[in-house]
Amino acid sequence: MELIRTVNLSKVYRTEDIETIALSGINLTIKEGEFVAIMGPSGCGKTTFLNLIGMLDKPSKGKYFFLSEDVCKFNEKSRSLLRKENLGFIFQDYNLIRELNVFDNVWLPLQYVKMNGASKRDRVRKVLHQLEISSRSSHFPNQLSGGQQQRVAIARALVCGPRLIIADEPTGNLDSVNSTLVMEIIEEIHKTGKTIIIVTHSDTIAGYADRIISLKDGSVVNQT
Ligand SMILES: Nc1ncnc2c1ncn2[C@@H]1O[C@H](COP(=O)(O)OP(=O)(O)OP(=O)(O)O)[C@@H](O)[C@H]1O
Ligand SMILES: [Mg+2]
Repeated sequence: MELIRTVNLSKVYRTEDIETIALSGINLTIKEGEFVAIMGPSGCGKTTFLNLIGMLDKPSKGKYFFLSEDVCKFNEKSRSLLRKENLGFIFQDYNLIRELNVFDNVWLPLQYVKMNGASKRDRVRKVLHQLEISSRSSHFPNQLSGGQQQRVAIARALVCGPRLIIADEPTGNLDSVNSTLVMEIIEEIHKTGKTIIIVTHSDTIAGYADRIISLKDGSVVNQT
């Protein structure tokens, strides 16, 4: 089943004195259950593409279909609902909230989900167990290693049961041992049927994917 389709997807950033064409005319289809890596030099538009796919930003031109719905036509509220129900994000710098402990960081996306408190806490415990980070539940982010922080961030991305995981250089700040660990976790998540889109600069990391999409200057230059 088709999860994502972009038609001539384009993004232009305009500041006072400069116009940057970050993406120009991307046509891609990603099926449910695929594991896709996006590669390309710095500034080629990878993060911009993820932001559009993740409905965090709108294209300047072109269309974006998520589950066959033309999501650009949705208002902010519907987009945000769609995002919360279907997407999980993982970032290079983990983006955990410093003031919250591990448990509360992972609990946060469940805040507005209609479910009773006990079931929510149960969900959190389950993903923390899955990510083998239960013993750190009451630690704060600054009391964790980078690899542990990224595992917490992955738990947070999974807690609402998303279909699609979007990861922007998730191993960019990790050493090779922790990178491998995180990629093995992402591979396991993929095996549970989730779609994965990952941006990376590393051929080793891209090797985990079924398909590699290479961007250059905002366009797709190669697909394998
Ligand atoms: N908010 C913004 N305002 C203006 N220009 C922007 C903005 N965000 C990105 N750009 C520009 O758009 C282009 C694409 O940026 P993007 O962040 O998507 O690149 P990237 O491929 O993710 O690079 P990297 O590998 O360094 O993360 C760059 O030239 C960048 O300077
Ligand atoms: Mg980027």
